[in-house]
Amino acid sequence: MTQRTLVLIKPDAVRRGLVGNVLSRFEAKGLTVVAMEQRHIDAAQADAHYHEHVQKDFYPPLRDFVTSGPLVALVLEGDEAIEVVRAINGATDGRKAAPGTIRGDLSLSNRENLVHGSDSPESAAREIALWFPQL
Ligand code: PPS
Repeated sequence: MTQRTLVLIKPDAVRRGLVGNVLSRFEAKGLTVVAMEQRHIDAAQADAHYHEHVQKDFYPPLRDFVTSGPLVALVLEGDEAIEVVRAINGATDGRKAAPGTIRGDLSLSNRENLVHGSDSPESAAREIALWFPQL
C-alpha cells in the first residue's frame, strides 16, 4: 500500500553535515521525496508537532533542541512508507538502535537522534497537514 510519511532531519543532523547521508538512505531504499524544505521553527510549531508530548518531563529540552537551529522537513512516499522509514531510522535511543539504522550508525542520544518519522497513518496525515498544508 502506497503511503506518505512526514520526516524531520533534525537540527543535530544539519549541524553535523549529515543531511545528505540521511536523505541518501531514504532515496536508496526507493522512497520518493514529495516535498522538502529547510526551516528554523519556533516553539509554537514545535508544540503543534509534538502535541502529545508537551506535558511530559522530557519535552522542554526536546523543544529547545528542535528549535535550536534549522531542520529539514520532508514528505516521503512509497510502499508501506511509514513503517519502512521507522525501520530505517532505528530505535528512538541512538545508544540502543541497531547498527545499519540512521540512529544506530550516527547517534548516541535519545534526544539528539537525527530524525523523526510519523508513527502511524493518523500521525502522518496530521503531521503532513501541519508541515505542508499545500499537499
Ligand atoms: S513515548 O513517550 O514513548 O511516546 O516517546 P517516544 O516515542 O519514545 O519519543 C517521542 C519523541 O520524544 C523524544 N524523546 C526525548 N527527547 C528528549 N529527552 C528524552 N528523554 C526523550 N525521550 C524521547 C524522542 O526523540 C521522540 O522524538 P521523535 O521526533 O518523535 O522521534
